[in-house]
Amino acid sequence: MPDVEIHQFPCLSDNYGVLVRDGVSGKVAAIDAPKASEVEAALAAKGWKLDYILTTHHHADHTDGNLALKERHRCTIIGPRAEAAKIPGIDRQVGDGDRFDLGSTQVRVLDTPGHTLGHISYWLPQIGVAFVGDTMFALGCGRVVEGTMEMMWNSLAKLMQLPPATAIYEGHEYTAANAKFALTIEPENEALQQRAREIEALRASGKPTLPTRLDLELATNPFLRVTSPAIVKRLGMAGAKDWQIFGEIRERKNRF
Ligand SMILES: [Fe+2]
Repeated sequence: MPDVEIHQFPCLSDNYGVLVRDGVSGKVAAIDAPKASEVEAALAAKGWKLDYILTTHHHADHTDGNLALKERHRCTIIGPRAEAAKIPGIDRQVGDGDRFDLGSTQVRVLDTPGHTLGHISYWLPQIGVAFVGDTMFALGCGRVVEGTMEMMWNSLAKLMQLPPATAIYEGHEYTAANAKFALTIEPENEALQQRAREIEALRASGKPTLPTRLDLELATNPFLRVTSPAIVKRLGMAGAKDWQIFGEIRERKNRF
């Protein structure tokens, strides 16, 4: 198994930046670049130099740091082919099924459109880690800004197929608000009740709730639990397609 160190740090008001260092080669990648100065500070704190930026999608709170970091570190920017024109400084365009190496660590690209049309996620199968940007959040999911509800559901369903112990890194700390909403959709879910208490304690002591784990999300995240009989019953959607139930939950969250 490769020797990989992952450093997550808060950025902007509620984003997370992440640095990944392959220990064998010393190569370092930033997952998105919300703000150059904050990524620089994280690199300096670790004593690392930046080799790559792996962009998940074009939104400014994920790409604002691209050009300044590239100028300073001469790093290679990898990002989604389907929205390459909107990714500042992109050098290499990737899409579903592509693979590349961060030193000795293999990276696989998954198309996960919906939040934006070209959104991609990066999966590191050898170490059981996925960086999913604004597709999935702890107890939540991204807003369906550019795509359709069906498209977003299919992206979440793809992530749900990853190994259950996969650590999921996401773009934002929205978990406390997500927990309040999740409890309106599946209040009888005991695993969710317990998790909501843990999240409250973590945030009260200023700790991050991320990364999360896929199996925990499968047990508690209402956006992934469209086949839960309690949820189907509460929504009155027996016989509806999975993506329609997802869409209803997403609409309710938009209004929450
Ligand atoms: Fe976004």
